[in-house]
Amino acid sequence: MRKTIIVSNRLPVKISEANGDYTLTPSEGGLATGLGSIYREGNNIWVGWPGQEITDQKEQEKVTKQLRKMNLVPVYLTQDEINNFYEGFSNETLWPVFHYMSVYAHYEQYYWDAYFQVNKKFRDIILKIAEPGDIIWIHDYQLLLLPGMIRAELPEISIGFFQHIPFPSFELFRLIPWRAEILEGMLGADLMGFHTFDDTRHFLDAASRILPVNTSANIVSYNDRAIVVETFPMGIDFNKYAALGNYPEVQEQIRDLEQNFDKNQLILSIDRLDYSKGILQRLQAFELLLQLHPEYIGNAVLYMIVVPSRDTVPQYKELRDEIDKYVGNINARFRTLTWHPVQYFYRAFPLETLSALYNFAGICLVTPMRDGMNLVSKEYVASRNNNDGVLILSEMAGASKELIDAIIVNPNNIGAITRAIVDALDMPLAEQQRRMKQMRTVVAKFNVHHWVKLFMARLQEVNEMQQNML
Ligand code: G6P
Repeated sequence: MRKTIIVSNRLPVKISEANGDYTLTPSEGGLATGLGSIYREGNNIWVGWPGQEITDQKEQEKVTKQLRKMNLVPVYLTQDEINNFYEGFSNETLWPVFHYMSVYAHYEQYYWDAYFQVNKKFRDIILKIAEPGDIIWIHDYQLLLLPGMIRAELPEISIGFFQHIPFPSFELFRLIPWRAEILEGMLGADLMGFHTFDDTRHFLDAASRILPVNTSANIVSYNDRAIVVETFPMGIDFNKYAALGNYPEVQEQIRDLEQNFDKNQLILSIDRLDYSKGILQRLQAFELLLQLHPEYIGNAVLYMIVVPSRDTVPQYKELRDEIDKYVGNINARFRTLTWHPVQYFYRAFPLETLSALYNFAGICLVTPMRDGMNLVSKEYVASRNNNDGVLILSEMAGASKELIDAIIVNPNNIGAITRAIVDALDMPLAEQQRRMKQMRTVVAKFNVHHWVKLFMARLQEVNEMQQNML
């Protein structure tokens, strides 16, 4: 029977170890939810890194068996591979360049070598599993070489590729010494998807300027094959977020928040620790608000959750220290006996707590410097069952192309963010509702299940088109 193989760097599972025993819990990330309907079915599977270094052969076998029951196949990475493939090439080379922060990028040959080797490691595992007629859907920037590596071995197999982060303009992309190899790797796919039209255009532009390929509209002709490149903005599970607000444990947490804060003056900010998220600029804008509008002292609160991430990469560690310092300064300068301007948390929270915050906070402030899509903005919108609340959104987030009824800001313009916060604090309920209703319609319709269906259906069409061309 024909099966679908999902591939991503991380498996949708959290592993924790206690006294040599491993506990596996499915993770609740957006991609995991969206693809749940696929990889849990029949003989479909998901291939990826379990996110933990397990060196002992016997332990590996034990964990592999447990994962297998969840339709998951692990790719174990050694500490060297974690350092040079994951932290190195993926997150110190590709991540900064693709997010337009090339000054942070390191171009190390040994990072590239590890990236190549780990993509090969993924290929070898997939080759053991894949059979003629299967569909392989590969995700994200950690695996850009994998489509080409699989294509070389299985010329007929159907391969889709989706990139979850931006694809930069040619002027940025050309900086990478291995740019041609990266494009060749990606072009092993039959269908390639990006979140926004600009990302798609940037990819087509880079391919036609760097490689000897022909591109016409959204089709690249390469090695006698036609590759289709298209835009598929990813959504979230709207119904899940809309329903969460009615759970008793969420309601209880909302009541706790009500006792401590004024919902109309609570500004919510939720991100993974990352310099692409504009966290320091957001703090600057909030500080400016308190300076220019002392009437908010004692009232407005920035409720800021930063979820730990990649903190073994130096740039991330530094950012964490800078945030600590900045929050400390603002609080020391403006706090009163009964009020803290910034409520800052550096930790992950359960979904119920996030839902309570999304439901409660009258303002959600999402100002990344660059973001492929940004799902937090959509989660906030989906949670607003009363149709009130204001979303302030960076024009550099992919989501800003869809959520046009947010207050859209340039995240480099600190004054503009401050003004947007004032506008949000002052916005009449009727206008909040008009904007929120529009955004909810978009988020409800273009949800993650729609995204998965659309991509899979298009992949099949592309394969049929390729058959007809033979
Ligand atoms: C972004 C990337 C994902 C990645 C996630 C978490 O959303 O697009 O590929 O999995 O960040 O980062 P991590 O490095 O912890 O996997």
